[in-house]
Amino acid sequence: MSKLGLGKINGIIGLQWGDEAKGKLVHKLSNNSIYKAVARFAGGNNAGHTIVHEGKTIVTHLISSGILWGKKAILGSGVVIDPKSLIDEMGVIQSLTKESLRTKLLIDSRCQIIFPWHILLDQILEDMRSSKIDTTKRGIGPALTEKVSRDGILIGDMLNPSFEQILAEKKEERICYINHLLNNNYVPVVNKDSYRKKLLEIDKSVVEDYLRYAEILKPYITDTSSWIYEALRDGKTILAEGAQGALLDNTFGTYPDVTSSSTIVGSIFTGLGISPKYLGDVLGVTKAYATRVGNGIFLTELGDIGEILAKKGNEFGATTGRKRRCGAIDIPALRHAIRLNSPNSIALMKLDVLDTLDQIPICTYYVEGFKVINNFPTLQYEWNNVEPHYEYLPGWERSTRNCRKYSELPRELIRYINYIQDLINVEISVLSVGPSPEETIFL
Ligand code: IMP
Repeated sequence: MSKLGLGKINGIIGLQWGDEAKGKLVHKLSNNSIYKAVARFAGGNNAGHTIVHEGKTIVTHLISSGILWGKKAILGSGVVIDPKSLIDEMGVIQSLTKESLRTKLLIDSRCQIIFPWHILLDQILEDMRSSKIDTTKRGIGPALTEKVSRDGILIGDMLNPSFEQILAEKKEERICYINHLLNNNYVPVVNKDSYRKKLLEIDKSVVEDYLRYAEILKPYITDTSSWIYEALRDGKTILAEGAQGALLDNTFGTYPDVTSSSTIVGSIFTGLGISPKYLGDVLGVTKAYATRVGNGIFLTELGDIGEILAKKGNEFGATTGRKRRCGAIDIPALRHAIRLNSPNSIALMKLDVLDTLDQIPICTYYVEGFKVINNFPTLQYEWNNVEPHYEYLPGWERSTRNCRKYSELPRELIRYINYIQDLINVEISVLSVGPSPEETIFL
């Protein structure tokens, strides 16, 4: 069948460990009249997107900011949903828009539900690990584990007249499982008593709470895979909003210190239930430096410069408030993420955070003894054997916040952009010099 006349899905994908300021770009780009809808395809409320909308700073976790421009916001089947978090966010979004969410928010019936026992398990399992992942404790991992083991409940089950019974049976099953963990003397968990107390609270309130959430969410639940398919057949363009970043991908990231879902371009299609033949353009997003929140390998993490970047870039997690680790842009890691996603072009974000540095560090390759390593290693023990090699470009040492055109950028900054572009061999098409939508330069 010819592709002519069909709509397409453009994707915005993070190329680092998340927090690349994708939220700002989605907010800016989704205002374009070509987009009919913006769709989240993976992750859950572990993600935090900070946006500045009409002068107000807002943090969203699940609902795409495209809804503020009147676009449909879709939560595709790959998303895991904490109903309470979603309902709270619906309240925030509703207070910012005159349009009713009722016609704008679509939740796929196949999304997995996060229950309080998943959040509790996220804590217990972390306690049990000798090497901590430092998860966001939002229950994402346990909910996705139960999806794979076929023990989860779908949000579409809220429409089932037997939902209360399904819920009550699942609750008994999960409580039995967690009690088994807590009562086993060989399971190395401290604070077992406090976990038992939380489990009792869950036992008491979960059914009633989730029946209430179901009444609120039912009108939004639908088959979004079919909805997107029809829109694409009708020639419409959809924006797919990535969560986290390629280096947190469950398979191709820095395993085991990764999230529990796939974050790379292929997951747009498995997460929305759409064929890859509809892929349009992919915009890869990276900061002009690197950050990571949580444990795991971070070869270009820096001490003093890292502190400056953390402060200037306000590098605190939008979801958990945790301080992000900061360091230099890592070219082999970026090339790895580019290989996985084949972006058509790159957005280079938070350039203004580098404004005060007299020289800008760039990790161009790694070394292992006398050996030069150009590729991002695949396995944890290999990362432990390599050291970053840095090159330094002169800084521009002046504020770029007011720059609105390429021609207004400092000469040193243009040199930095060209240098990165040559190293990654992909066109840089967007620059960001501040959090507001107007602080964006299209090349
Ligand atoms: P989880 O996704 O909560 O299971 O956490 C697993 C790892 O992914 C932890 O290191 C988290 O800090 C990290 N992580 C999850 N979501 C995000 C995000 O949106 N930004 C940055 N890191 C994240």
